[in-house]
Amino acid sequence: MATNRKGLLSYRFCICFLLQHCSLSFALTNQQDVIVLKALKQAWSPTISWNLGTDPCQTSWLGIFCDDGNTTIAKLILPAQGISGTLPHEIGSFVNLQILDLSYNRNLTGSLPLQLFRLTNLTELYLQDCGFYGSLPQDLGNFVSLTTLSLNRNFFSGSIPHTIGQLSELVWLDLSSNELSGNLPLSLARLRRARHFHLQGNSFSGVIPAGIFNSKLPLIHLLLHNNSFEGSIPADIGSLKELDIMRLDHNTLTNVSGSLAHIVSLTTLRLDHNNLTGDLPDLSGLINMQVMDLSNNQFSPGPVPSWLWKFTNLSALALEAGNLLGSVPTNLFSLQRLALMRLGYNSLNGTLDLRMAGPSLAELDFQQNNLSGILGSFTGTLNLQGNPVCQTNPNHLDIACLPVSESSPSLPSLSCRCQRGFASNPSAALGSCLCAYPLSGILVFTALKVNLDLRLIPILKDGFVKSTPLLDTEDQIVISILSDVIANISIFPQNAEAWDADQANSIIALLSSKAVLFPGVGPYEYLPFGPYSPPGTADESLSASVQVGIGTGIAAFAAVLVIICGYAVLQKKRAEKAEEISKPFVSWVSMREDKGGPPKLKGARLFALAELKRATHNFNKAHEIGVGGYGKVYKGTLPSGEQIAIKKAQARSHQGAAEFRNEIELLSRVHHKNLVCLVGFCFEERMLVYEYVPNGTLHEALLGNSSVILDWQRRLTIAVGSARGLAYLHNEANPPVIHRDVKSSNILLDQNLVAKVADFGLSRLAPDDEGSGDGHVSTQVKGTLGYLDPEYCTTQRLSDKSDVYSFGVVLLELITSRQPIAQGKHIVREVRSAWQKGGLQAVMPLLDPLLKASPTSELRAFLDVALRCVEEEAVFRPTMKQVGKEIEAIRDAIPHTQAGFSTSKDLAFQYSGGYDIALTIEPK
Ligand SMILES: *[C@@H]1O[C@H](CO)[C@@H](O)[C@H](O)[C@H]1NC(C)=O
Ligand SMILES: *[C@@H]1O[C@H](CO)[C@@H](O)[C@H](O)[C@H]1NC(C)=O
Ligand SMILES: *[C@@H]1O[C@H](CO)[C@@H](O)[C@H](O)[C@H]1NC(C)=O
Ligand SMILES: *[C@@H]1O[C@H](CO)[C@@H](O)[C@H](O)[C@H]1NC(C)=O
Ligand SMILES: *[C@@H]1O[C@H](CO)[C@@H](O)[C@H](O)[C@H]1NC(C)=O
Ligand SMILES: *[C@@H]1O[C@H](CO)[C@@H](O)[C@H](O)[C@H]1NC(C)=O
Ligand SMILES: *[C@@H]1O[C@H](CO)[C@@H](O)[C@H](O)[C@H]1NC(C)=O
Repeated sequence: MATNRKGLLSYRFCICFLLQHCSLSFALTNQQDVIVLKALKQAWSPTISWNLGTDPCQTSWLGIFCDDGNTTIAKLILPAQGISGTLPHEIGSFVNLQILDLSYNRNLTGSLPLQLFRLTNLTELYLQDCGFYGSLPQDLGNFVSLTTLSLNRNFFSGSIPHTIGQLSELVWLDLSSNELSGNLPLSLARLRRARHFHLQGNSFSGVIPAGIFNSKLPLIHLLLHNNSFEGSIPADIGSLKELDIMRLDHNTLTNVSGSLAHIVSLTTLRLDHNNLTGDLPDLSGLINMQVMDLSNNQFSPGPVPSWLWKFTNLSALALEAGNLLGSVPTNLFSLQRLALMRLGYNSLNGTLDLRMAGPSLAELDFQQNNLSGILGSFTGTLNLQGNPVCQTNPNHLDIACLPVSESSPSLPSLSCRCQRGFASNPSAALGSCLCAYPLSGILVFTALKVNLDLRLIPILKDGFVKSTPLLDTEDQIVISILSDVIANISIFPQNAEAWDADQANSIIALLSSKAVLFPGVGPYEYLPFGPYSPPGTADESLSASVQVGIGTGIAAFAAVLVIICGYAVLQKKRAEKAEEISKPFVSWVSMREDKGGPPKLKGARLFALAELKRATHNFNKAHEIGVGGYGKVYKGTLPSGEQIAIKKAQARSHQGAAEFRNEIELLSRVHHKNLVCLVGFCFEERMLVYEYVPNGTLHEALLGNSSVILDWQRRLTIAVGSARGLAYLHNEANPPVIHRDVKSSNILLDQNLVAKVADFGLSRLAPDDEGSGDGHVSTQVKGTLGYLDPEYCTTQRLSDKSDVYSFGVVLLELITSRQPIAQGKHIVREVRSAWQKGGLQAVMPLLDPLLKASPTSELRAFLDVALRCVEEEAVFRPTMKQVGKEIEAIRDAIPHTQAGFSTSKDLAFQYSGGYDIALTIEPK
């Protein structure tokens, strides 16, 4: 036995030796390259998984790519591998290396060996975000073939060697976030192909030399911010012909030359946080300007310059602490693209006239000025702190006059409970919960045209999918916004637990080399959280079924809601399919055979298309009264004089005739005083005809956008009515109906201000844009941001308690007259945390000023119901029926003398600040 084993061992050893020997002696790969790889493996820990016994070009070694003949190593690509150690001098002995990427190995330190600069065939060198230090040697000039040099985020010091001018092929120069100092070398002028100078975040000093910039330099991005440049901005900067983004902010520059105004191509200009003196320069030539920040300089006092309103593409303007005097010109607000304006810390006086505010305007910051009045209304975020108008008129403007508090978003856990580092894979198969280890990191944007917000998420996702062959669908990417310029990115493998090492490597390399393109978004850096190393396997003990009641601590920070609800949309298809299976209406399907025929109904009428055309003057635009998820809504008048509202399906609906019919049969059997009545339908073109409800929506009434004034008693009556309507849908309709899109804009008010709930069941009827042409039938998960039940978002389990949550949000709207999400805050969290801190007293400042005189016992009881409705876990929420009863009890306790309506119109002016646009989640 013992001898046997010994024999086996030596036999094995022999085979191994032979194999190793043979593969090396017959290897195609140049032996010199193999020696270099061995040296790298030896110098680095943890050891790279290269199998030294095999041939690197014939067996695939991680991160090694050979030339066409498999003889020499062309690319060495090992970003974010957790490599520790230094760069051994052998690296310079590669025979013909062209691309080297060792980015994001933060423990790879030391100085760059001089031998590295022997790799004269290198075209791309990426050593970003490592631990390298020391100075950049003169030998840098040897890289005559280099097109990309990314040495950002290291600890390099000293000055840029003048030999950099020899890199005549260089397109991309990124030395940002190092400790480089001294003057910029004049030889930069010789980089006749350079598009990017990213030199920000160093300690460069002195004057930016005249002579670097000339019309032959095709720069598009010039980033010199956050250094110590001083003196004048050189006049020759004006000769750059293609420059798109210029950042010179956060320096100590003192003079700006008028030649800046010659760079007509410029769309982003930041000169803020310098020591610029003299009059504001005349920049009227920069007609393509989109983002301009001249804040925090020492300009001479003067009025807001009039050339600003020639900038028809301007989307963001900042001129804080700019010594501005006089009144705020009204023309400024009429710029159609302007979204953000920050003119705080100036001496602007007079009245702020917002009557001409353009459609894009979302944020206005005029804090610490001398404004004494305000005209017009504004639906974005307005900051007027420290203006006299806040003293004279504090109630009308309380939101605009309060300090803005920062909220720090945190990540919720999603539908599975996963071990550390793992998260629920959004691309997992139907109905399952798969813990996966995403590749994650942050994207930092250097010069955004808009602040990072929801609008950017689709652009980023699209960029990832289009530029990364390994990504099949946008479902694989989860993006959350961490700040104005930073987004958290998680990239999941398609329906799998982890990426393999090669896949992860190639995705990181695409990001490190900026091959992932986000058109129009400007420069970015990708910073992985660390090496991609999924530990063992995921904890699957919890993964078989969807988890219920996880204490996700769903903070109602807008950002978090966005993630969760964005996630809900990602999960849409799954939920749809799951719902098809448990379809509550299946038993109700009747007479399947005559699929195409009109439904036979009591009550609801069948309209001919011609009839509805007549009623709306051929769907004339003047008859349009709204747009919803289902499509457009028209007001019409029948020959009898009866007024109707017609909902016309948006695009071609892919819904089958039988399904449409079933839905109508269902809706037409639902009758309740507090539900909008279905009058009929048109079968030729999918249309639903409802009774016309004249007083608009509760949402408009709360906004002060209708003539309706809502006092406390009216609000209670509306709450009772809509609760009854919903309770009927849940308990008495047969089969029961879950509304799924309860919100203040789906509660209509009739001539007697009786609440009528609209759009129930419609989420099932909306056309599906996605399945275009394939005849696929689906029901939709639909909801509106701010109203979505967090438990539904995380579990996709739909119940009538989801409606209760949304209704709770409506109750909070009723008592505060605030939008569910405003200034990045969610009403639920705001009210709840105030309530927990100090009861009604602490909630008082959040309430609609109109209601502040109402009896505290009633307000308290109402808040108590509302907050139970928005409990995170559905089991703790009351039923719709209970809600109705409790609010009814509050209302009925009011003595009748108090029920008189106040009609003074000026009270409706209260709703001034903090209104954002409600975002409806629609299918992509
Ligand atoms: C190079 O090696 C790969 C295997 O790694 C092989 O598929 C390819 O055919 C080889 N090419 C040549 C020219 O030998
Ligand atoms: C770098 O090394 C330190 C200590 O040696 C270790 O704690 C850290 O995790 C390493 N960082 C990376 C990114 O590998
Ligand atoms: C550069 O490439 C050429 C051929 O393309 C080759 O002859 C030369 O040896 C290479 N030099 C280095 C230093 O890689
Ligand atoms: C300036 O750069 C330094 C070093 O990279 C960084 O720590 C700092 O946050 C930057 N400051 C600004 C205002 O960008
Ligand atoms: C530049 O301005 C800052 C304040 O904005 C001031 O503290 C600093 O002393 C100024 N530096 C120079 C060189 O004028
Ligand atoms: C810079 O501006 C100051 C004040 O406006 C002026 O006195 C000085 O001459 C200017 N310097 C240059 C170099 O233009
Ligand atoms: C606003 O300020 C300007 C310049 O300081 C002054 O001339 C004007 O009288 C002020 N207007 C008002 C209404 O205070």
